[in-house]
Amino acid sequence: METLSTERLERLRQLHSYLHDQILGQDHVIPRVVAALHRGELGLTRTDRPKGSFLFLGPTGVGKTELTIAFTRYLLGEDKLFRFDMSEYQTRDSLAVLIGGRVGEVGLLGRARKKANSGTLLFDEIEKAHPRVFDLFLQILDAARVTMASGDTLDLSGFYIVFTSNIAASEILNLQHSSFATMERHVLAKAQQSLRPELYARIAEKLVFARLSYDVQIEIARLHIKRELAFLRDKGFELSVDESIVSFVMQRGFHPRLGARPLRDTIERDLRGAIVDATLGGGVPSPARLWVRDNQLVLTACAENSRVD
Ligand SMILES: Nc1ncnc2c1ncn2[C@@H]1O[C@H](COP(=O)(O)OP(=O)(O)OP(=O)(O)O)[C@@H](O)[C@H]1O
Ligand SMILES: [Mg+2]
Repeated sequence: METLSTERLERLRQLHSYLHDQILGQDHVIPRVVAALHRGELGLTRTDRPKGSFLFLGPTGVGKTELTIAFTRYLLGEDKLFRFDMSEYQTRDSLAVLIGGRVGEVGLLGRARKKANSGTLLFDEIEKAHPRVFDLFLQILDAARVTMASGDTLDLSGFYIVFTSNIAASEILNLQHSSFATMERHVLAKAQQSLRPELYARIAEKLVFARLSYDVQIEIARLHIKRELAFLRDKGFELSVDESIVSFVMQRGFHPRLGARPLRDTIERDLRGAIVDATLGGGVPSPARLWVRDNQLVLTACAENSRVD
């Protein structure tokens, strides 16, 4: 096993708390992802396999992609996530896009590998992939090796593989009153039927994400407002907000079936919209207070320089 620096070990120790702070309402998923990532980072996986493989199931907008982005950024750095949307890989020719079609071509997987020795390959909406692409997945999971049209072999053993799918997502939304365990079993059984059994069996961690309740989405709203304020601060706008902003964005962005995506979009659009309006209307005071008046966001000069975020 390679020796890791003290800083690296500390980073691995903090992984759980980092992900727990970023991805809310999925506490049953995070420990299993962290355990798999720890094994991967400590080199406790076979060298002829990917560092880890995951199937993330569940409704739309509940953190499947966000968790993948978060762990990749934290462990491997920016620019180490390579995303492939399988809805664009539904025909026979799709395989060529990934591994090249004519002699000499390397395809998108080859290009990703050229850019990085390690990283995460994220395949979204996996159930839509063409059967030839499924065969490629089997090769990757079995041997972490892929032969491209160029004749070269790609070594993907430094990569985590994440598949996501909304298979049986409607059950998660509809079976709200059965226990999570019952629902989880049901979704996993459906996924096993829809994907090929041999593919399903080769994916190490199969995890079902929960729908996000109103209470969890309020916490997500607070988190995203904080992030948005940090983003705006970076752009030179110093804002403070109060709790009324949270109810405002919840009113506009809460959606029980679409997860937190509409909420995130509302926060970005409306907070930035207020900055645009103020800038075009004569300038943004600094520091400024952002609050709700007549069901509208307004920006005014902040008398006392205290931040409440
Ligand atoms: N559990 C969560 N905690 C914090 N933020 C979340 C969570 N779930 C979703 N979000 C926010 O909502 C946005 C959409 O979530 P994400 O992209 O992870 O959805 P998804 O589960 O991959 O859905 P899809 O199946 O449609 O791809 C994210 O960018 C993130 O800002
Ligand atoms: Mg996604």
